[in-house]
Amino acid sequence: MSATDLQQHWENVYETKDTTRVGWFQQKPIISLNFFDFLKIPKDAKILDAGGGDSLLVDYLNDLGYQNITVLDISAGAIQNAQIRLGSLAEEVCWIVDDLSKCKLDGKYDVWHDRAAFHFLRKKKELDHYLDLVQKSVKQGGYLIVGTFSVNGPTTCSGLPVTQYSVGSLMEFFSDFFEPIKCLNTDHITPGGVEQNYTFCALRRK
Ligand SMILES: C[S@@+](CC[C@H](N)C(=O)[O-])C[C@H]1O[C@@H](n2cnc3c(N)ncnc32)[C@H](O)[C@@H]1O
Repeated sequence: MSATDLQQHWENVYETKDTTRVGWFQQKPIISLNFFDFLKIPKDAKILDAGGGDSLLVDYLNDLGYQNITVLDISAGAIQNAQIRLGSLAEEVCWIVDDLSKCKLDGKYDVWHDRAAFHFLRKKKELDHYLDLVQKSVKQGGYLIVGTFSVNGPTTCSGLPVTQYSVGSLMEFFSDFFEPIKCLNTDHITPGGVEQNYTFCALRRK
């Protein structure tokens, strides 16, 4: 799929679907929030939610007092949904519409969070780009929190093929630049009641 087609795919998803009914929807992103708690992320941390879509993570982080949040997504529609939902609070958040498989970022982050976006990258070039981007963008001692479909999870997400990861293969992929802190497998229950097994890792930038 070309980059334009990929963006169009996601614009179409956010234009046509009720995103409280899509497979990845979470009323409360508990696993991600638990990682923030476990890692004792300070409230002034600079946080990037990569492929954040219109996830409610930004709302919960905002409620917890985090003040330096950026949401990046390939879909302008996803970002618009989140901005409308947040109302005036959206002005406190930094928004970026870009493609993680080829974008450049200026900022350095204390926390890079990615739930179910990284797993769409399948070509070597895209994976190399993501690794380079994340290693350049996360401060030394900062954290990468990444969640993907596991080897026992689905092989597609939103109709697109994904790369599945075990705890071992996820740690291994980032191991040149990140050391593992805590990894786990967890079942997410979709709004339609289907179990999807995820691999989540929190890794620290060396
Ligand atoms: C399965 S959804 C997950 C959304 C959100 N992270 C969550 O947990 O609710 C995947 C998101 O990644 C975005 N995405 C997919 N490929 C991307 C890419 N190459 N660059 C940036 N965002 C991408 C999609 O637009 C979508 O919002």
